[in-house]
Amino acid sequence: MAETLSPRDRLIVALDLSDTAAAQAMVARLGDAVSFYKIGLELTYGGGLALAERLIADGKQVFLDLKLHDIPNTVARATEQVASIGATFLTIHAFPQTMKAAAGALGASRMKLLAVTVMTSYDDADLAEAGYGLSVADLVARRAKQAQAAGIHGLILSAEETKAMRTLVGPDMLLVTPGIRPAGAAIGDQKRVMTPTEAIRAGADHLVVGRPVTQAADPRAAAQAIVAEIAAAC
Ligand code: C5P
Repeated sequence: MAETLSPRDRLIVALDLSDTAAAQAMVARLGDAVSFYKIGLELTYGGGLALAERLIADGKQVFLDLKLHDIPNTVARATEQVASIGATFLTIHAFPQTMKAAAGALGASRMKLLAVTVMTSYDDADLAEAGYGLSVADLVARRAKQAQAAGIHGLILSAEETKAMRTLVGPDMLLVTPGIRPAGAAIGDQKRVMTPTEAIRAGADHLVVGRPVTQAADPRAAAQAIVAEIAAAC
């Protein structure tokens, strides 16, 4: 766990907006209340990489949620490209070949790799249908240990997995947790959520928060309230 992180740097706002103009406007509205942004697949395919470069040039940290998975050579070269943008975090799927290839391609880059263990849209029946003989819980644990062995810096975990995985992988891996809802915020399509306080106490290093900030009447105030809650919980 990264104890020295500032409360503001623990909050990662998911820029799940339809286009880069809307995302840029949201970033301007949030100002210095937010230091860290997540750009996912939708925005990436709509000009998000150029936005990432602008944000980094403006001193923000960027988490590129690209969920890489391909043959090792392709993963390694894509990892090098993303590292050259100056992103802080990049996601990859937690397959051993993919993780080893990405970890081996970092060179002198300070970018950190986060492994997606099992997508939270999968349950045990989905895994069986896909040909796996393990439960979600067992596959998450197996992949978390494989990620650690491959030198991956952290894991993306749903709120309810965070506490068990902190116990399993120990203090050094970064745990990054979406599905966060401040008390009183709309849950939306998330099923199992945690408040910022609960997530920090469960061992999360970073909280990924989208709509509770971006769809708030006052996004800046919403972000500041979450940072204050994180500070109190640390
Ligand atoms: O708006 P909300 O706070 O629900 O956004 C959460 C962000 O975290 C979204 O970008 C979503 O894709 C991502 N995410 C998630 N649950 C996971 C993995 C990622 O909500 N298990």
